[in-house]
Amino acid sequence: MPMMTPAIQQAIAEFNPHPNDVILASFPKTGTTWLKSLLFSIINYSSRDSLVKNNPHALIPFLENDVYGESSKPISIMSNDTTRIFNTHIPYQLLGKNIESSGCRVVYITRNPKDTLNSLWHFVNKWEMTNVAPWGMEEAVEKFCHGIVPDGPYYEHVLGYRIASFENPDKVFFVTYEELRKDTVTHVKRLAEFLSCPFADDDKKVEEIVKSCSFEVLSSHEVNKCDDLQAWFPVSNKSFFRQGTMGDHKKYLSEEAIEKIDALTKEKFHKCGFIYGI
Ligand code: A3P
Repeated sequence: MPMMTPAIQQAIAEFNPHPNDVILASFPKTGTTWLKSLLFSIINYSSRDSLVKNNPHALIPFLENDVYGESSKPISIMSNDTTRIFNTHIPYQLLGKNIESSGCRVVYITRNPKDTLNSLWHFVNKWEMTNVAPWGMEEAVEKFCHGIVPDGPYYEHVLGYRIASFENPDKVFFVTYEELRKDTVTHVKRLAEFLSCPFADDDKKVEEIVKSCSFEVLSSHEVNKCDDLQAWFPVSNKSFFRQGTMGDHKKYLSEEAIEKIDALTKEKFHKCGFIYGI
């Protein structure tokens, strides 16, 4: 979004991650909030109850909104031994140099393009801004296909991190929303191993994390049901928890729109050998 450009530019120019940092990277509406809660619980296991009283976005700073930009807050300078977690929507093509030179770890989540667009469309229409007309689905499909959406284009965003994870699997962990939804336990164990967490093999602890970060549990906390707005944008805590399912796009996208997006997915992903998203 143009209003965020200065903060994004500042983050690219100044962000110098510690080697122990973990960057949660994602395109909007692909499962960032869920992965924030999982990463927070894995890395800060003994403080995982903080998720009961805090929206996951309040626990993990958003690089281009909380750390840089107008609503930025000072981030405590912790020693290089502490694991800090940040999240960003900045594409790898722009942030890759900062990441590579630091040796920090990245966890990237992506989601089926049609569910991503559908979730984005619902989310944008909840923005509490005056003088903004509702966003029609036909227009949303056009804009998404042309990459004219917040943090777009989606396809290049995904491929940037996908390629980075192929080239450097020890540093870049790539997971899809669908994989995580179908077998959360296995992927949380893989994540814990990737993050060198001592309980990676402790099934009980992993299952406990999976349950406490499930859509049902997280969305039932008062803090995630309320209308409080985020510091960086006029969106409420509850707007990050809508359905949390797979395939919801079928209720909102026309057959024509589905064909159009599938054709683009084949062209962008399948031709690059990434058979995903249809
Ligand atoms: P839907 O709009 O399809 O329901 P992000 O966090 O990147 O903004 O993505 C938001 C999407 O993730 C929303 O999708 C939201 O409902 C879903 N989501 C939020 N928390 C979740 C959870 N714990 N498990 C599964 N999906 C979740």
